[in-house]
Amino acid sequence: FEGEVLENEPLSRHTTYRIGGPARLYARVESLHALIAFSEYCVEQGIPWFVLGRGSNLLVSDAGFPGAVIVLGQGFSSCSYDDAAHVFTAGASCPLSRVVHMAYERGRAGMEFAVGTPGSVGGALRMNAGSRHEYIGSRVLSVTSYRPGEGLVRHRAADIEWGYRESTLPNDEIMLECELSSFDGDPEMIRARMDNAMSLRRKTQPLAAPSCGSVFKNPKGDSVGRLIENVGLKGARCGGAQISDLHANFIVNCGDARADDVLTLMHRVQDAVAEAYGIELEPEVRF
Ligand code: EPU
Repeated sequence: FEGEVLENEPLSRHTTYRIGGPARLYARVESLHALIAFSEYCVEQGIPWFVLGRGSNLLVSDAGFPGAVIVLGQGFSSCSYDDAAHVFTAGASCPLSRVVHMAYERGRAGMEFAVGTPGSVGGALRMNAGSRHEYIGSRVLSVTSYRPGEGLVRHRAADIEWGYRESTLPNDEIMLECELSSFDGDPEMIRARMDNAMSLRRKTQPLAAPSCGSVFKNPKGDSVGRLIENVGLKGARCGGAQISDLHANFIVNCGDARADDVLTLMHRVQDAVAEAYGIELEPEVRF
């Protein structure tokens, strides 16, 4: 078996939130062969499973996960650039930030929006990660995934629809790799756009504390941060979790937060915003 399987591995070690109980099984697979073998084992045994990327948009319950967590290891983390076609090919476990920096080094524009985005390429594809105005889907030329029990599937850009933090990529497929387009760019301009995006993040987002990034999706034409601030919940605490003083759509882990503390704050926010504005906030964070 190329990889390793751990039992009762605390998921708090694998989420940016530093929250989450143990997974019954935690499998790091290093090859497609190992991924196929392990996912087929789970299907045969009736063990529920999910794929964990860099754990940056995830709230794992305090009870943990009574199934198998599959992590794609180094074997899926390649990132390369084809000079002739101007195409980047990135593996699912490659940090998105590595693609952003490789694009900059090659003088290729189009990925600056993702600077500072903490997730993996696979996770970014799964949730169509991005800023307010740009998202990874708009750069995707193709996605290769694995459908457990069936095999590899190649999705071309024309066959995928991308929406705000969502896409039509099937949820039961495991993202393996994607091809990303790029444009000609002046390295200084690329650097300046990356620096601007990063300094805006540093000013407006609580980057030092463990979090999952934005907790809720913005409703059309409005911003959750503004709504939460207006209902007076900025800074509110529950146990070890706090609605950030800096950005109200971030709930930070002050050190010893439990998933239940975060969920309690999320429900308080949803109730208050529904009452004040009649808006049902939809979580961006995955459970
Ligand atoms: N605002 C407030 N109070 C707050 C926070 C924000 O009034 O406490 C206002 C701001 O003044 C601004 C507006 O809300 O006018 C929007 O805020 P911001 O520019 O910080 O962006 P956002 O909509 O909250 C989105 C993404 C972020 C991404 C930033 C920058 C969502 C849910 N979030 O945040 O993505 O980094 O734009 O592009 O779309 C993430 O998805 O995890 C994430 C961090």
